[in-house]
Amino acid sequence: MKNIVVLVSGGGTNLQALIDAENRGEIVGGKITCVISSKPDAYAIRRAEYSGIPHIVIAREDYPDVHGFSKAVLDALDKERADLVVYAGFMTIVDETLCQAYPNKMINVHPSLIPSFCGKGFYGLHVHEAALEKGVKVTGATVHFVTEECDGGPIILQEAVPVLNGDTPEILQRRVMENAEWKILPKAVSLFCQDKIRVEDGIAIVTGE
Ligand code: GAR
Repeated sequence: MKNIVVLVSGGGTNLQALIDAENRGEIVGGKITCVISSKPDAYAIRRAEYSGIPHIVIAREDYPDVHGFSKAVLDALDKERADLVVYAGFMTIVDETLCQAYPNKMINVHPSLIPSFCGKGFYGLHVHEAALEKGVKVTGATVHFVTEECDGGPIILQEAVPVLNGDTPEILQRRVMENAEWKILPKAVSLFCQDKIRVEDGIAIVTGE
């Protein structure tokens, strides 16, 4: 059974999707063993608490720089014996030591079809604002491995979602969450836990979906 540690900073709806999938028996070969929040007031922490999952707050403001914060997160991951680290709305910048310590063992969910609307400055609602500003007719979500390049790691799963006339960033965000993120994140986690994802030459190959 693989130990899954989930990193969060906000509302935690993606964490909830993982918890619900685990409760339905859909995370095969893995168990959420710990939730780590970079924000003390994140509602995601309450979700972990209600589900009886151990949770820790490692607040960014308690560390003088990104390296001190990253070291604290790394120490916690090591202590938890994490086999898989999931960034589920984790919005705090960390240094390269994390993905170097867990190569192809950290996955992130991003609310667009990468390589569109990703990289520095594209997070949360800003991603959907940019998609609407550009007038794209299709957007979606991507689950990918975390590497040193922001949103640039091997792509594991993607799901497309239509953009409709009259969408606001909030309406579009909700549609992308419901129809893409909350489906492909638990699916990718389950595939990982069953050793059904391998990376060759920077490309993720998914087998036996
Ligand atoms: C989600 O839409 C997630 O994809 C996005 O933030 C939201 C967090 O919601 N993450 C990023 O933009 C990372 N670049 P949640 O806390 O309810 O899961």
